[in-house]
Amino acid sequence: MSAARDLCAPRQLIGRPVEQLPTPALIVDLAKVRANIEEMRRRMETVPAALRPHAKIHKSPMLGRMQLEAGAIGLTTATVWEATAMIEAGLSDVLVANQVVGPGKVRELARLAGLGKVIALVDDAGNAEQVSAAASAAGSEVGILVELDVGLHRAGVRGVAAATELAELVVRLPGLRLWGPFGYEGHCMLEPDRDERVRKARAANGELLELVDAFVARGLPTEIVAAGGLGTWDITGANPRITEIHAGSYIFSDAFHRNLVPGFDPALTVLATVISLDGAMAVLDCGRKSIGIDRVSPELVGADGKVRFEHGEHFIHEEHIAVELATPGVRVGDTVQLMPGYSPTTVNLYDCYFVAEDGVVIDVWPVLGRYGSETSGSMR
Ligand SMILES: Cc1ncc(COP(=O)(O)O)c(C=O)c1O
Repeated sequence: MSAARDLCAPRQLIGRPVEQLPTPALIVDLAKVRANIEEMRRRMETVPAALRPHAKIHKSPMLGRMQLEAGAIGLTTATVWEATAMIEAGLSDVLVANQVVGPGKVRELARLAGLGKVIALVDDAGNAEQVSAAASAAGSEVGILVELDVGLHRAGVRGVAAATELAELVVRLPGLRLWGPFGYEGHCMLEPDRDERVRKARAANGELLELVDAFVARGLPTEIVAAGGLGTWDITGANPRITEIHAGSYIFSDAFHRNLVPGFDPALTVLATVISLDGAMAVLDCGRKSIGIDRVSPELVGADGKVRFEHGEHFIHEEHIAVELATPGVRVGDTVQLMPGYSPTTVNLYDCYFVAEDGVVIDVWPVLGRYGSETSGSMR
């Protein structure tokens, strides 16, 4: 195997100044991550809900462990494969905040439930029956939250009556344990106007609480009542009847989240090399295949300049980003750092993080649970 394909090769770069890494490279600033985790811990002390941070943002058991050590009650994941990565690293109490559908994934969920506490969402009776059958076959117990659509119109049972009916099925099925209802107000998360976000989130929380009332009236469990992301941490989290929230983007922040919820220091960057220059315009060896641009465009960090705007859009191709640099003296071969527009869709593009302290690589941590990787379903 060539050195470039050797998965251990990145570790040989430990000790290097980050600006000397081969690019594009994913860099996490450990001091900033620690500060962000501490800041969120401090904020969560001011609201009644507990924090179960969303690990889809980082896909890293190392970072998940740091969040648990700072008081998180467990971790949230978007996929069963992220849950595999966390649980196999010894981090138990994982909520897959998603429907787990398909035989391989359902089997994996049931297997994980034999290793630690695992909870998944259901919004469909047939899926609940499949999870029940897999758990029974594995001799495990899968925790369940019934998802209600509270306005995002993504997944979730439409309507309190149908959600209650599904919950009544879940408590009858072997191998399942109902913990309560779930209602993610994702449609509020992107609302830049704070007052409007508060109004929308309270309305969504109100719908979830109607389901809580219905569960209570029928004697169904409400030990967990879950919702919430970073944009609503102090709205949903302030509701005394909501037991936990799933904010996660605070750990890295990014060009989108730092405006939405200020106070967290962008801790994730992509290092890129200037590969071509035309006056003040520099072209970087990084693009859609190496940096997340959902929601907003990346921003330069530590250099004065911005992504070039041309023909009504930002100049971001698959492997190229054009930036207008105000910093004089830049040469081909120099490196610059970019803050992703959106961290979760950046991390997913890399095998590993270069962990930096004071600008030097001190460790290399894997990004786990990606599709087609060893922890994903096609391999099982
Ligand atoms: C179900 C669910 N919960 C919580 C979140 C919160 O993540 P963030 O911290 O980015 O707001 C997300 C983000 O997409 C999500 O899909």
